[in-house]
Amino acid sequence: MSDPYESALTARFGTPVDLGGEAPDDPWIKAVLSRRTQRRYDARPVPEPVLRLVLAAALSASSKSDYQQASVIKVKERAQRDRLAALIPDMPWIGAAPVFLVFLGDARRLERVSRHPIDNGTLEGFFNATVDAALALQTAILAAETLGLGTCPISVLRNHIDAVGEILALPDKVFPVAGLCLGYPAQAGFVSMRLPPETTVHRDRYDEAGLAAAVADYDRRRDARHSIKDRQKSPERFGEAEFYGWSEDKARQAMTPEGTRFAGWLKAKGFDLTK
Ligand SMILES: Cc1cc2nc3c(=O)[nH]c(=O)nc-3n(C[C@H](O)[C@H](O)[C@H](O)COP(=O)(O)O)c2cc1C
Repeated sequence: MSDPYESALTARFGTPVDLGGEAPDDPWIKAVLSRRTQRRYDARPVPEPVLRLVLAAALSASSKSDYQQASVIKVKERAQRDRLAALIPDMPWIGAAPVFLVFLGDARRLERVSRHPIDNGTLEGFFNATVDAALALQTAILAAETLGLGTCPISVLRNHIDAVGEILALPDKVFPVAGLCLGYPAQAGFVSMRLPPETTVHRDRYDEAGLAAAVADYDRRRDARHSIKDRQKSPERFGEAEFYGWSEDKARQAMTPEGTRFAGWLKAKGFDLTK
């Protein structure tokens, strides 16, 4: 019997993925395998009940210890959105998306509701709140996509943390994890090829023996589908690469530090991540 996921898996990983037998044929899983970020939206507004449904689904995500440390800001006022969008002019979808949300790690609420002297400004408190917000973000993404919307998370907000904190009036121990653009997609978009499961899923213990060869293969597969040779980052700094694949592109990207003010800002907002 043929694998109902064969084409979706090959699109996602650029190579067939052996499921090791027959798996239940599920249309939602196929949609997840084929999901993609969308940065262009048509003018159709997102109906309020749809947005509220997406948020209700997002807040149904798992939560570490049931502490419920995710919060969301719906940025409704045009002036508020414009102030955020103006910080990042090279990502015009932040201002143009029909809906813009900001997912927050909220290590504050637990302290506020407690009659006991909790210190949630530790690394553990920060990390738990981050994970809760990230799970809510991804659940919002999948819920929105299920309802025909397109989304784009926006972590570059944290590159402008002082301004973002002020615009959103963030109190101590509340921090942005990422924004989220939402709207009905204006184009089909494309499936972004992922590293193969053999590279990212380990058996019994961590094993990077085949990493270099697997990444070289992946670079080639990705290049064959969608070459970025003509979009090399910072050639004046790194030179023109003869072969320019994903790993070189990401290495160059990571050479430019991001979020350099974040640690200092968190400290000023009551976190001590050495504790
Ligand atoms: C936490 C997070 C932050 C992101 N931040 C941005 C961003 O600031 N701007 C942007 O255009 N895309 C952003 N993205 C989208 C990623 O670039 C995108 O998910 C990635 O290229 C893989 O593409 P795919 O989601 O279509 O598979 C972000 C994604 C995540 C998960």
